[in-house]
Amino acid sequence: MKAKNEADSPKTKSNLINQLGVVLRSAEVHHVKNIAVGNAINNFVSLLSEFVKYEGDFILELRGDFFFVNEFRIRYASEVMINFDYLVRLFRTLEIGTVIIKSGAGTNDIISLTEAFVKSPAVNPFETIQQKMSHVNSITVHKLKKIVEEDLLDARKMVKKSYFKAVSFTQGVMNKIQQGEKIALKKAKRMIVSLVDHIINQEQLLVSMTSIKSYDEYTYHHCVNVSILAVALGQRLGLNIKQLTELGMVSLFHDIGKLEIPSRILNKTSKLSDEEWQVIKKHPIEGVRLLLKMKHVDFISIRSAIVAFEHHMFFNNTGYPRIKKSFPLDLYSRIVSLADQYDAMTSARVYSRIPMSPDKALNLMIKQAGSQLDPLLLQFFINMVGVYPIGTLVILDSMELGLVYESNPGFVTRPRILILSDSNGNRVDAFACDLAEKKNDGDFRRTIVRTLDVSKWNINIAEYLL
Ligand SMILES: [Fe+2]
Ligand SMILES: [Fe+2]
Repeated sequence: MKAKNEADSPKTKSNLINQLGVVLRSAEVHHVKNIAVGNAINNFVSLLSEFVKYEGDFILELRGDFFFVNEFRIRYASEVMINFDYLVRLFRTLEIGTVIIKSGAGTNDIISLTEAFVKSPAVNPFETIQQKMSHVNSITVHKLKKIVEEDLLDARKMVKKSYFKAVSFTQGVMNKIQQGEKIALKKAKRMIVSLVDHIINQEQLLVSMTSIKSYDEYTYHHCVNVSILAVALGQRLGLNIKQLTELGMVSLFHDIGKLEIPSRILNKTSKLSDEEWQVIKKHPIEGVRLLLKMKHVDFISIRSAIVAFEHHMFFNNTGYPRIKKSFPLDLYSRIVSLADQYDAMTSARVYSRIPMSPDKALNLMIKQAGSQLDPLLLQFFINMVGVYPIGTLVILDSMELGLVYESNPGFVTRPRILILSDSNGNRVDAFACDLAEKKNDGDFRRTIVRTLDVSKWNINIAEYLL
C-alpha cells in the first residue's frame, strides 16, 4: 500500500478542482496560448503530478450539485466557491459527467482539454468534445447521467417520509416537555442523523421540503425546517457529519422556550401589547432553562442552550435578550438565526397570516446583511436556496407561469421550474424545465421576467412540490 501523503488530503483534491476552474475560466477570456492561461495550466499540471503519485488517475465526477474526486465527495469552501460553481455550471452546459485524467497526462493534454471545453458548440456539446479529445489517450470524458424520473420519484418519496416523520417526532417531544416529562436526546439524535444523511445525499430534495408550511402545525414544521436549512447551510460551509448532527439538534430546539409562553399570547391574532411582547421576548431565556433541565446535561444540551439564548441576537449585537457587554455569537447561533428568519418570514403564522414570497424574504435579508445577519453566511445561504428559492412563483419571457422547484448551483438566476400555465394563461399539467437550457442559436429557451406573490394566486405550492 502506498504511503499516505499530503496529496491524499481533501484540500489537495479541492485545490485541483479549483485550479481546473481557474484554467477554464481564464481560457474563456484569453487565448489558450496566452501567458495567464499557460501559467494556470502549469499550476494545474504540477498539482496533478503530486496527486497522481499517491492516488493514481484523477477521476472528477459531478453528481447532483457536488463534485467527487476518486469517489470522495469534495466540500465547498468559501475561497473556492466561485470556481466550483463555475465548473458545475460548465459541466452541466457541456453535458460532462466525468473527466478522467490518467497519471501520464502532460501539459499538452491539458491544453487539448481546455481548448475542447471552451470552444464547444451549444448543440451536442458532449459529442463535439469527445470527438475533439479522441486523439488524447490520457484523458477521457463521460456524459452526464440524466437522473431517471423514476429514481427521482423514489428518492422524493423517501425524503418526504423522513420529513413528515421528523415533524411528528418533534410534535411528540414538544408535548412531552410541555407536560413536564424529562426527555432524553438520544431519539432526537437518531432522527437528526437520518435528516443529515438525506441532506448529504439529496440536499435539494430535502431543502425543497422546507417550503411545505403548515399554518396549524407551524411550530413543529418550523423547528424541522430550521433544522434542515441550518444543516444544509452547515454542509456548504464544510462542517463534518458530527458537527452537522450537532447543528441539526441545536436548531431543532431553538424555540423550545416558546413552550413556556402562555398560548393566549403566543396564539393571539390581534396586535400584541408592549407587555405581551416582553413576555414573548423571554422565550430565549426560557429555552435555556428547559434545555438545562433535560435528563442528561451534555455537550449538545449546553450548545442548544447557547443557541436558544442567542438566536434572536443579531450580528451587530442588537436584538434580544439585551446584554450589557457585547460578545461574538456562536457560529451555530448565526446559522440558526438566518434559517429561522427565512422560514418564519415565508410561513403563515398567527400574527402574519400572509407569508412573504421566498424571493422577497431573501431581498429583505440582503438588506440586513452586516447589521442583523452575518454577511458571509448569508452569501452561502443565498447560493444554497438560489436568488429564486424553491416555492417562488415566476412569470417567464414566454409569458408562461412557473414554480421554482430546484435551484441551479452557480446559476442562481436560472433555477429548475415547473410550468403551471401556458402563454395564454391556461393551466396545463405541470411539467419540469431547466432555465439553464439553451436553444440551438445559443440563447436561453426561457428566462424569468419577474416574480409573483403566491398568496395572490390560488395555488397550493405543497401540492406541486410533493
Ligand atoms: Fe425564536
Ligand atoms: Fe424560530
